[in-house]
Amino acid sequence: MRIVLFGPPGAGKGTQATMLSRAIGAEHISTGDMLREAISRETSVGLSAKGYMDKGFLVPDEIVLDIVKEKIASDCRHGFILDGFPRTIPQAEGLDRLLGELGMPLEAVIDLEISARRIVERLSGRLVCPGCGEPYNRVSKPPAKEGVCDICGCEIVQRDDDKPDAIHNRLATYEKSTAPLIDYYRGKGILHGIDADADIDDIRGRILKVLGV
Ligand code: AP5
Repeated sequence: MRIVLFGPPGAGKGTQATMLSRAIGAEHISTGDMLREAISRETSVGLSAKGYMDKGFLVPDEIVLDIVKEKIASDCRHGFILDGFPRTIPQAEGLDRLLGELGMPLEAVIDLEISARRIVERLSGRLVCPGCGEPYNRVSKPPAKEGVCDICGCEIVQRDDDKPDAIHNRLATYEKSTAPLIDYYRGKGILHGIDADADIDDIRGRILKVLGV
């Protein structure tokens, strides 16, 4: 399957994409994770991206498009779940061109709908494993042993951009640059809105139902 998991910061895209990828065997592509990995390896992409990400602003389209194109062309014969991409109209148009050339059109865009109040609650409680990427939350999804990843045993951490100022910038950026994609995909007839103010497992069930899995 070829899916975009769409929604504002903290809507649960990463949480759901990780589970969906295991359930349907499609490659999970998170541009946020790819950029964070580039930063930790101090590559040229990482060095360019860091300043934007720490403040909660978008990384320039051409940088993100390049890393996604390379990943899809090399690793995604069995489908993909895009998480955090596309985030602007030029990114969506670039994705359409690439998938057109590959003969692999998008099948569904799942829009995780959630209020700003709930987003702030989730992001300020979020922890993540730097080893395997497993997401946690102090309230809704704590690890079995405090501070330690259930999957790989690494020490789990808070992201730099989950501080209040960066959260504010991320929400404003979403409204200005990313929310217009809702109409873009509605116009293509592949948008499915899902109420994401629910238990993680309930949301997962709703997504699987929409996908007919
Ligand atoms: P990215 O890493 O993609 O961050 P984001 O889109 O802001 O999304 P988040 O990861 O914050 O939230 P999420 O929706 O994945 O929610 P999660 O499942 O983690 O991007 C980071 C930065 O990279 C961007 O700001 C930008 O600078 C750059 N970037 C990335 N892609 C880019 C692109 N395409 N173009 C340009 N720049 C780009 O859940 C959040 C928390 O809530 C967790 O603690 C989780 O456990 C909890 N939670 C999840 N679901 C539930 C639930 N149902 N109930 C209760 N708690 C829940």
